[in-house]
Amino acid sequence: MVDSFEKIPVKIFTTPKDGSEFAAREIGKLIRSKESKGEKCVLGLATGSTPISLYASLVRLHQEEGLSFKNVVTFNLDEYYPIEPEALQSYHNFMQRNLFSKVDIDPANINIPDGRVAKDKIKEYCQQYEQKIEAAGGIDLQVLGIGNNGHIGFNEPGSSRYSKTRLVTLDNSTRVANAREFQNISHVPRMAITMGISTIMNAKRIILMAWGLKANIVQKSVEGHVTEHIPASILQQHNDCTFIIDELAATELTRFKSPWLTGEITWTPQTIRKAVVHMALKLKKPVLSLTTNDYIDSGLGDLLTEFGDGYEINLQVYYQLRDSITGWPGGKPNAVIPNHPERSEPYPNLLSASR
Ligand code: GLP
Repeated sequence: MVDSFEKIPVKIFTTPKDGSEFAAREIGKLIRSKESKGEKCVLGLATGSTPISLYASLVRLHQEEGLSFKNVVTFNLDEYYPIEPEALQSYHNFMQRNLFSKVDIDPANINIPDGRVAKDKIKEYCQQYEQKIEAAGGIDLQVLGIGNNGHIGFNEPGSSRYSKTRLVTLDNSTRVANAREFQNISHVPRMAITMGISTIMNAKRIILMAWGLKANIVQKSVEGHVTEHIPASILQQHNDCTFIIDELAATELTRFKSPWLTGEITWTPQTIRKAVVHMALKLKKPVLSLTTNDYIDSGLGDLLTEFGDGYEINLQVYYQLRDSITGWPGGKPNAVIPNHPERSEPYPNLLSASR
């Protein structure tokens, strides 16, 4: 963990496939170790596009390496409400398609909230879901994805840290994001049954996976304050939670975005420019107006120690930026300015060439 910034251990993989393979192997190890002790392995499972590659890896482990799901009991996080289990978009259908129909799990060991329960019976039904988890010995490992607003399961921003399985109303942003699974937004159910945040936090171990364009919310969840406005940030208070993410989802973490803040880095003209531009944007000041104090307050004191005057650094960065501006994107005939981006030969004029 890059201390003081990342408050949850993060493992970064080149591709979602690599991350999923790692997560699948961790789950496989747990299933096998439980099996060797004659115990059931209780998994909490997630849906959405993120875990599809995880389930593909688990199916492969089953088919090629003999990983058996006979001693596995599963509890899914959530389900739309109302919805029929046979509906194409139901999480029942999703789980059958992506995992259950392809492994040797006993159907009696599968638990997914039922989107058909009568409204006046839901409270009782949710309590029973909680009791069932408890009776199974609690969740050994919970798999999570993350919504763009930081939701986990269907615990939208504002959900209480102490919430349990219950009926919730979906955020409009969640309905918009999930509309891709339905004909159009008007077909997306307005409610869902979801495990609560405390149900999730009670799991002995948690793996949250995030790929691609989730960099912003990953950064806020891992490095920000713990707040119910970003439900995933509450995971900072779990003692065995790991984020498994790909390189793209890691780009907003301080160690990549502002590496100079996390310790010593090797200064090159590029890293200096990145750091100074970052500071200028943050302080909303022109580069040439940055002062020695700005450098020190922005954690760039090292840069001053190494290169001296802030004014000189401002100038060098300013020159770099200035020289990247050209009024001749098509090339400037006979340009002679060294290191200037203008081409000395005009770029071939495609229109006249095709005439
Ligand atoms: C849904 C699910 C969540 C999931 C999230 C992210 O709303 N209820 O469990 O984590 O969306 O979905 P995706 O993985 O498709 O980005």
